[in-house]
Amino acid sequence: MTRTQQLRALSEEHSAHNYHPLPVVIAEAEGAWVTDVEGRRYLDMLSAYSAVNFGHRNPRLIAAAQRQLERVTLVSRAFDHDQFGPFVAELAELAGKDMVLPMNSGAEAVETALKAARKWGYEVKGVPADQAGIITFEGNFHGRTTTIVGFSTDPDARNSYGPYTPGFRTVPYGDAEALRAAMDENTVGVLIEPIQGEAGVNVPPSGFLKTVRELCTAGNALMIADEIQSGLGRTGATFAVEHEGVVPDMYLLGKALGGGILPVSAVVADADVLGVFRPGQHGSTFGGNPLACAVGREVVAMLRTGEFQERSRTLGAHLHRRLGALPGDVVREVRGRGLWAGVELNGKARPVSERLMELGVLAKETHETTLRLAPPLMIDQEDLDWALDQLEIALRD
Ligand SMILES: Cc1ncc(COP(=O)(O)O)c(C=O)c1O
Repeated sequence: MTRTQQLRALSEEHSAHNYHPLPVVIAEAEGAWVTDVEGRRYLDMLSAYSAVNFGHRNPRLIAAAQRQLERVTLVSRAFDHDQFGPFVAELAELAGKDMVLPMNSGAEAVETALKAARKWGYEVKGVPADQAGIITFEGNFHGRTTTIVGFSTDPDARNSYGPYTPGFRTVPYGDAEALRAAMDENTVGVLIEPIQGEAGVNVPPSGFLKTVRELCTAGNALMIADEIQSGLGRTGATFAVEHEGVVPDMYLLGKALGGGILPVSAVVADADVLGVFRPGQHGSTFGGNPLACAVGREVVAMLRTGEFQERSRTLGAHLHRRLGALPGDVVREVRGRGLWAGVELNGKARPVSERLMELGVLAKETHETTLRLAPPLMIDQEDLDWALDQLEIALRD
């Protein structure tokens, strides 16, 4: 048995089978490259679903984490610490909002936003008790909690986890008329991914996000942008909503906010929204811990320069030019923005991601026929081109 087979066997036997990973066992990583336990190198074209936007073990982020490891790592929110205030202030400034509520996983940020929207609905908008409604979109992916999977339209994510939390209505993504019809006086929020990641990098029709903004403003409902996968540089802007000049009421951030080192998520909004939480009404033992805040501050500092957004824009244009030239008999459609692409194939995507792995490129299918590409934003053009050469080979095979 190879080392890979031994380790894969342990995972197979002792881990719940809630993922279908490629049969590679990674031991080390640096930048855009990972190395497996056999010493084989692969170019990472997935970036942990955008959590590794700045590359593996980015030196600035590792240094920030190491500095903090030498000082203090966890105090809980029972006490303040010297990284907390600066982190929330700096992230709020990056987003142009007043306040930040730090959490850990993306799903926790989503749950926090749903609670904030309901509380805002009752206490500020004046919705009658227990009548608050939130609108979501078909194809959504916002996480795995019992409430969130209740409004998923993916049977794998949703089935057998009922009874589901009431208070949600789901309308087709990109359908402004359906959204308008679904909103009523008790609607407190519209939860939207500016680009749907897990659904296959679905970009909404041009103008749709603007319409969502207008309908939310007109209906006195909160526009809640889940930028957990689309945000922090991935699409060539700090937030994907910027491509339509839209400012939501709440930004939900996660993944890359933890610098590829640890889970860090946050809800970012103005004081009239996040101000509804008072002491004891929401919390998290680990949310906003010193290590998370130190890494998050460095992430914010790196985004402030615009350098990563710019790389994503220019290299993304190159990526999409090359993907657009792939043969039409195997590729039905290419979607995405910046260094983010959903390649819709005429056949199954899994064999292509397996073939890519053999060729030294790690990418992953989403659903049956979509291959998702999301390289670290610091990738070289040369490496990107090499990965795309391998994709051409894999699609030809
Ligand atoms: C848009 C979006 N929201 C929320 C989540 C959930 O994040 P987490 O897995 O950290 O709970 C994800 C994860 O893929 C996501 O893509």
